[in-house]
Amino acid sequence: MSLSDELTGSGRTTLIDGMTFEVLIDEEELASRVRELGQQISRDYDGLKPAIVAVLKGSFVFLADLVRAIDIECTVDFLVVSSYGDDTKSSGVVQISSDLTTPVEGRHVLLIEDIVDTGLTMSYLLKNLDSRSPASVKVCTLLEKPSRLKVEVPIHYKGFTIDDHFVVGYGLDYAQTMRNLPFIGYKVG
Ligand code: IMP
Repeated sequence: MSLSDELTGSGRTTLIDGMTFEVLIDEEELASRVRELGQQISRDYDGLKPAIVAVLKGSFVFLADLVRAIDIECTVDFLVVSSYGDDTKSSGVVQISSDLTTPVEGRHVLLIEDIVDTGLTMSYLLKNLDSRSPASVKVCTLLEKPSRLKVEVPIHYKGFTIDDHFVVGYGLDYAQTMRNLPFIGYKVG
Protein backbone atom coordinates (compact mmCIF):
# COMPACT_ATOMS: atom_id res chain seq x y z
CA MET A 1 0.00 0.00 0.00
CA SER A 2 1.52 3.32 -1.01
CA LEU A 3 0.54 6.34 1.02
CA SER A 4 1.29 10.01 0.57
CA ASP A 5 -0.24 12.94 2.42
CA GLU A 6 -0.77 16.47 1.27
CA LEU A 7 -2.65 19.47 2.56
CA THR A 8 -4.98 21.14 0.08
CA GLY A 9 -6.99 24.33 0.30
CA SER A 10 -10.23 22.42 0.92
CA GLY A 11 -8.81 20.06 3.53
CA ARG A 12 -6.49 17.10 3.80
CA THR A 13 -6.25 14.48 1.11
CA THR A 14 -4.36 11.20 1.05
CA LEU A 15 -3.54 8.99 -1.91
CA ILE A 16 -3.75 5.25 -1.21
CA ASP A 17 -3.39 2.60 -3.92
CA GLY A 18 -4.45 5.08 -6.61
CA MET A 19 -7.52 6.24 -4.66
CA THR A 20 -7.79 9.74 -3.22
CA PHE A 21 -9.41 10.20 0.18
CA GLU A 22 -10.48 13.33 1.96
CA VAL A 23 -9.34 12.86 5.55
CA LEU A 24 -12.06 13.96 7.97
CA ILE A 25 -10.46 12.77 11.21
CA ASP A 26 -6.79 11.85 11.34
CA GLU A 27 -4.97 9.36 13.56
CA GLU A 28 -3.96 11.88 16.22
CA GLU A 29 -7.48 13.33 16.48
CA LEU A 30 -8.92 9.82 16.81
CA ALA A 31 -6.40 8.78 19.46
CA SER A 32 -6.94 11.88 21.54
CA ARG A 33 -10.76 11.75 21.46
CA VAL A 34 -10.83 8.01 22.17
CA ARG A 35 -8.57 8.59 25.20
CA GLU A 36 -10.99 11.23 26.49
CA LEU A 37 -13.97 8.90 26.03
CA GLY A 38 -12.12 6.12 27.87
CA GLN A 39 -11.40 8.42 30.81
CA GLN A 40 -15.00 9.62 30.97
CA ILE A 41 -16.37 6.06 30.83
CA SER A 42 -13.90 4.97 33.55
CA ARG A 43 -15.13 7.75 35.83
CA ASP A 44 -18.84 7.15 35.12
CA TYR A 45 -18.71 3.36 35.54
CA ASP A 46 -16.30 3.18 38.45
CA GLY A 47 -17.36 0.24 40.67
CA LEU A 48 -20.05 -0.94 38.20
CA LYS A 49 -18.02 -3.47 36.18
CA PRO A 50 -19.75 -2.58 32.87
CA ALA A 51 -20.55 -5.17 30.22
CA ILE A 52 -19.04 -3.63 27.11
CA VAL A 53 -20.88 -4.89 24.04
CA ALA A 54 -19.32 -4.06 20.69
CA VAL A 55 -21.39 -4.09 17.51
CA LEU A 56 -19.35 -5.79 14.79
CA LYS A 57 -17.81 -5.52 12.43
CA GLY A 58 -17.40 -1.76 12.13
CA SER A 59 -16.52 -1.03 15.78
CA PHE A 60 -13.56 -3.40 16.11
CA VAL A 61 -10.79 -0.80 15.76
CA PHE A 62 -12.58 1.77 17.92
CA LEU A 63 -13.27 -0.90 20.56
CA ALA A 64 -9.65 -2.04 20.65
CA ASP A 65 -8.42 1.50 21.31
CA LEU A 66 -11.30 2.43 23.64
CA VAL A 67 -10.99 -0.54 26.01
CA ARG A 68 -7.29 0.19 26.42
CA ALA A 69 -8.22 3.72 27.50
CA ILE A 70 -10.65 2.33 30.11
CA ASP A 71 -8.90 1.63 33.41
CA ILE A 72 -11.69 0.00 35.44
CA GLU A 73 -12.81 -3.64 35.53
CA CYS A 74 -15.12 -4.49 32.63
CA THR A 75 -16.10 -7.39 30.38
CA VAL A 76 -16.17 -7.34 26.58
CA ASP A 77 -18.58 -9.23 24.34
CA PHE A 78 -19.70 -8.92 20.72
CA LEU A 79 -22.85 -8.75 18.64
CA VAL A 80 -22.52 -9.25 14.91
CA VAL A 81 -25.17 -7.27 13.10
CA SER A 82 -26.00 -6.68 9.47
CA SER A 83 -28.26 -3.82 8.50
CA TYR A 84 -27.36 -2.93 4.95
CA GLY A 85 -29.19 -3.93 1.77
CA ASP A 86 -26.31 -2.80 -0.43
CA ASP A 87 -22.92 -1.22 0.19
CA THR A 88 -23.97 2.29 1.17
CA LYS A 89 -27.74 2.39 1.80
CA SER A 90 -29.53 1.02 4.85
CA SER A 91 -32.27 -1.52 4.14
CA GLY A 92 -33.77 -0.80 7.56
CA VAL A 93 -33.75 -4.51 8.28
CA VAL A 94 -31.46 -5.42 11.16
CA GLN A 95 -30.32 -8.96 11.78
CA ILE A 96 -28.17 -10.34 14.62
CA SER A 97 -26.01 -12.94 12.93
CA SER A 98 -23.95 -13.75 16.02
CA ASP A 99 -25.22 -13.18 19.55
CA LEU A 100 -23.60 -12.41 22.92
CA THR A 101 -21.83 -15.30 24.60
CA THR A 102 -22.78 -14.22 28.15
CA PRO A 103 -26.14 -13.00 29.53
CA VAL A 104 -26.37 -9.29 30.40
CA GLU A 105 -29.21 -9.61 32.93
CA GLY A 106 -28.52 -7.27 35.84
CA ARG A 107 -25.42 -5.81 34.15
CA HIS A 108 -24.60 -2.23 33.20
CA VAL A 109 -24.35 -2.53 29.42
CA LEU A 110 -22.35 -0.09 27.31
CA LEU A 111 -23.04 -0.59 23.60
CA ILE A 112 -20.14 0.38 21.33
CA GLU A 113 -21.00 1.37 17.73
CA ASP A 114 -18.88 2.73 14.91
CA ILE A 115 -21.54 5.10 13.56
CA VAL A 116 -25.16 6.07 14.14
CA ASP A 117 -26.45 6.89 10.67
CA THR A 118 -30.23 6.42 10.31
CA GLY A 119 -30.37 5.14 13.91
CA LEU A 120 -32.32 2.03 12.83
CA THR A 121 -29.63 -0.42 13.96
CA MET A 122 -29.19 1.19 17.36
CA SER A 123 -32.93 1.50 17.90
CA TYR A 124 -33.37 -2.21 17.18
CA LEU A 125 -30.44 -3.19 19.42
CA LEU A 126 -31.66 -1.06 22.33
CA LYS A 127 -35.07 -2.77 22.24
CA ASN A 128 -33.42 -6.16 21.91
CA LEU A 129 -31.07 -5.57 24.86
CA ASP A 130 -33.80 -4.06 27.04
CA SER A 131 -35.69 -7.34 26.75
CA ARG A 132 -32.72 -9.10 28.44
CA SER A 133 -33.28 -7.17 31.74
CA PRO A 134 -29.94 -5.36 32.09
CA ALA A 135 -29.41 -2.95 35.02
CA SER A 136 -28.84 -0.17 32.46
CA VAL A 137 -27.98 0.32 28.79
CA LYS A 138 -26.01 3.24 27.38
CA VAL A 139 -24.67 3.95 23.92
CA CYS A 140 -21.16 4.96 22.91
CA THR A 141 -20.63 5.72 19.23
CA LEU A 142 -17.51 6.95 17.52
CA LEU A 143 -19.48 8.87 14.88
CA GLU A 144 -22.91 10.36 14.39
CA LYS A 145 -24.41 11.62 11.12
CA PRO A 146 -27.39 13.65 12.40
CA SER A 147 -28.48 14.70 8.90
CA ARG A 148 -29.50 11.09 8.08
CA LEU A 149 -31.25 10.22 11.34
CA LYS A 150 -34.64 8.50 10.91
CA VAL A 151 -35.27 7.46 14.52
CA GLU A 152 -34.11 9.25 17.66
CA VAL A 153 -31.70 7.19 19.73
CA PRO A 154 -30.08 8.22 23.00
CA ILE A 155 -26.32 8.68 22.59
CA HIS A 156 -24.46 8.97 25.89
CA TYR A 157 -20.87 9.05 24.58
CA LYS A 158 -19.94 10.34 21.13
CA GLY A 159 -16.59 10.76 19.44
CA PHE A 160 -17.44 13.06 16.54
CA THR A 161 -20.39 14.48 14.62
CA ILE A 162 -19.86 14.34 10.85
CA ASP A 163 -21.61 15.65 7.75
CA ASP A 164 -23.40 13.38 5.30
CA HIS A 165 -20.49 11.50 3.70
CA PHE A 166 -20.12 7.76 3.33
CA VAL A 167 -16.99 7.37 5.41
CA VAL A 168 -14.45 4.56 5.59
CA GLY A 169 -11.44 3.65 7.70
CA TYR A 170 -10.72 2.96 11.38
CA GLY A 171 -12.97 -0.10 11.11
CA LEU A 172 -15.65 1.32 8.80
CA ASP A 173 -15.95 -0.31 5.40
CA TYR A 174 -17.05 0.06 1.84
CA ALA A 175 -18.13 -3.41 0.65
CA GLN A 176 -15.94 -4.94 3.40
CA THR A 177 -12.83 -3.08 2.24
CA MET A 178 -10.94 -0.04 3.59
CA ARG A 179 -11.50 -0.97 7.26
CA ASN A 180 -7.71 -0.88 7.68
CA LEU A 181 -7.24 2.80 6.82
CA PRO A 182 -5.86 4.50 9.96
CA PHE A 183 -8.03 7.62 9.52
CA ILE A 184 -11.73 8.37 8.93
CA GLY A 185 -12.31 9.77 5.49
CA TYR A 186 -14.21 9.47 2.26
CA LYS A 187 -13.21 8.68 -1.28
CA VAL A 188 -13.00 11.64 -3.64
CA GLY A 189 -11.25 10.09 -6.61
P1 IMP B 1 -27.86 2.86 10.76
O1 IMP B 1 -28.72 1.69 11.13
O2 IMP B 1 -28.34 3.51 9.50
O3 IMP B 1 -27.68 3.85 11.89
O4 IMP B 1 -26.45 2.31 10.34
C1 IMP B 1 -25.63 1.66 11.19
C2 IMP B 1 -24.58 0.86 10.45
O5 IMP B 1 -24.48 1.18 9.04
C3 IMP B 1 -23.24 1.21 11.03
O6 IMP B 1 -22.94 0.41 12.15
C4 IMP B 1 -22.30 0.94 9.87
O7 IMP B 1 -21.91 -0.39 9.85
C5 IMP B 1 -23.13 1.25 8.64
N1 IMP B 1 -22.85 2.62 8.15
C6 IMP B 1 -23.62 3.72 8.24
N2 IMP B 1 -23.03 4.79 7.69
C7 IMP B 1 -21.82 4.37 7.27
C8 IMP B 1 -20.72 5.03 6.62
O8 IMP B 1 -20.70 6.24 6.36
N3 IMP B 1 -19.64 4.24 6.35
C9 IMP B 1 -19.58 2.92 6.65
N4 IMP B 1 -20.59 2.27 7.24
C10 IMP B 1 -21.70 2.98 7.56
